[in-house]
Formats: sequence, structure tokens, C-alpha cells
Amino acid sequence: MKTIFSGVQPTGIITLGNYIGAFRQFTELQHEQQCLFCIVDQHAITIQQDPTSLANAIRSLAALYVATGIDPEKAVLFIQSEVPAHAQAGWMMQCISYIGELERMTQFKDKSDGKEGVSSALLTYPPLMAADILLYNTDIVPVGDDQKQHVELTRDLAERFNKRYGEVLTVPEIRIPKNGARIKSLQEPLKKMSKSDPNKKGTITLLDTPKEIEKKIKSAVTDSDGVVKYDVENKPGVSNLLTIESALSGVSIEDLVAKYDGLGYGAFKAGVAETVINHLKPIQDKYYELLESPTLDDILDKGAEKAHAIASVTLGKMEAAMGLGRRR
Ligand code: AQP
Repeated sequence: MKTIFSGVQPTGIITLGNYIGAFRQFTELQHEQQCLFCIVDQHAITIQQDPTSLANAIRSLAALYVATGIDPEKAVLFIQSEVPAHAQAGWMMQCISYIGELERMTQFKDKSDGKEGVSSALLTYPPLMAADILLYNTDIVPVGDDQKQHVELTRDLAERFNKRYGEVLTVPEIRIPKNGARIKSLQEPLKKMSKSDPNKKGTITLLDTPKEIEKKIKSAVTDSDGVVKYDVENKPGVSNLLTIESALSGVSIEDLVAKYDGLGYGAFKAGVAETVINHLKPIQDKYYELLESPTLDDILDKGAEKAHAIASVTLGKMEAAMGLGRRR
């Protein structure tokens, strides 16, 4: 059995991008592998957050993990800040990271570009992410395409640590979905759909109402030729909508293109919206049922306990290998 680890930031309500790129992989994998899924709240504070909104977002994300199909009997679901080993191992990973390699991370460049008062933690986010992954002897990290560079750095850091201090850490592999690895904004189809995008018309969240979904898809940017065809380069907006419908319905893009042949964008967008609405309905029902229920706290308490048991063993090995603390 392989160990799977992945995390999602509570920086807003998760989008169809997060769902298709990450959550769908999680629910598939939990049946055969040992899975740990984390709400990475310490990553969220690399950008200033309103404390009340952050607390709400953490609970909301926990409910969405379960509502989208994570079975707490099969997978460990927990909050990063409730397992102190993450911050401790994160520091060790920072100590073996080079400033140059962190400055090359495209996510750091995108999120810091043109901003004043960028936190030093935005730069050191990837070593903390490496610690998240490495603490669980993770074999596979299921993520969307945008996290590829961070997972590659995690591999480099694990190899560097092992070379300097002895074979302690497992070097993980990345797993990116074949379909939907990078869902794009509905308004700027060259940019990824992102939960913290200030342009809310570009993102569909898992909690949008049917009316909101219809409206956003109706106003999605396409092109003027009116032909439903998959061509990422010349028709990024249409291709993005096809990818979304295909990922949610399981119908191939080829079959969808045949279904909408000659119908025009009005019918196409209505069809995509219907698929999205029907797919999200049972998730939303389950979410609202769970949100205020004590079941959720129970799941998170048990998750933190199980995660701590694994992480503290790896942390102990890392500290001993580096020579921290007293010689035992
Ligand atoms: N557009 C996307 N398409 C496919 N997968 C995506 N992911 C994110 N956006 C897309 C995947 O979702 C998981 C959760 O990511 P995260 O919360 O750690 O942060 P992120 O990658 O930076 O996602 P966002 O939505 O863009 O968050 P913010 O706005 O806070 O930065 C990851 O597996 C990611 O690959």
C-alpha cells in the first residue's frame, strides 16, 4: 500500500479547479491507498487573512472534503496547525533550502509581483509544503499542474537531506490528473481558476447556487466563431468549458464536441451549466448537513491524533539525523 498526502489551503471556498485537479483524485485514491489529507491553514497565513474568515474557511473546507467524498474511516483528515511537527520540520526544510531556488518558484513570483509588504513566509512556503509531505513518508502527491514545481522542490529537498544526514526521508512522486490538471478562469481563460481570484465571475465555487453557476457560465469568455471545438491555443475559453463538462460527466471531449455540433454557444453553455449544477447538488446538500454538526469536530480530532502519531516519529528521526536536541 502506498502513502498519499495532499493539502489544500483554506483561502476561500474551493473552486471547480481545486475539485477537478485535486479532490477528484483524493476520493479515487482513498479506496486503495493509505491517504492523509490536510487543511493547510499555516500556508494560508503567508498572505494576511481576516481571523474570523480564516476560521470559517477552515471549517468550510473540512466539510467540503467530506461532502466531496473523503471517507474519514479510510483517510486521515486533519488541520496542519493542529500537528506541531509541520512547523518544526518546516523550519528544518528552510535551513536546507537556498534563497535562489525559492525565488525561482513561479507561485512566489505571481503572488509577490507588484505587491508591497510581501511576507518572508510567502518565499519560504515551499519548504513548509515539503515538510507537510515528507513527514508522512509520502509516496505519491496528487495535485493540480500548478503545484508541479513545488513537488519537484520537495523531491530535491528530500534528496539533499538524505545525502547530508543519511537516508531518513522518502522521495515522493507527483500525480497529476489526465483531464483537468489546470482548469482556467471563465473570464481570463489563459489564467488558472483560483479561489483567491478577486474576479468572482471567473471562478465557480463548490457552493455557488444554480443561478450563479448559470450566470457565470453564460458570461464565460469564448470567441466569435460559434463553433464548439477543442483547441486550447485558438479557443481557450471553449476548450476550458469542454474540459469542465468532460471531467464532471465522464463523457469524452470528442463525444461532447459531437453532442454540441452545430448548436452554437448558447446551447453549449446551457449544457455545461446543467452538468455542473447537477454534479454539485448532492455535494452541497451533504455540505450543509455537515457544517454545524459535531461529527466534523470528531473527524478532525481523530485525524489530528493519527497524523501526529506518524509525523512525530519522522520528526524525531529528522532531529536525530541533524543533531538537534540532546544526544540519546
Ligand atoms: N485551476 C486549477 N485546476 C486544477 N487544479 C487546481 N488546483 C488549484 N487550482 C487549480 C489544485 O488544487 C489544490 C489546492 O491548492 P491550494 O489550495 O494549495 O492552492 P493553489 O494551488 O494556489 O490553489 P488556488 O485555488 O489558486 O488557491 P489560492 O487562490 O489560495 O492560491 C492543489 O492540488 C492545486 O494544484
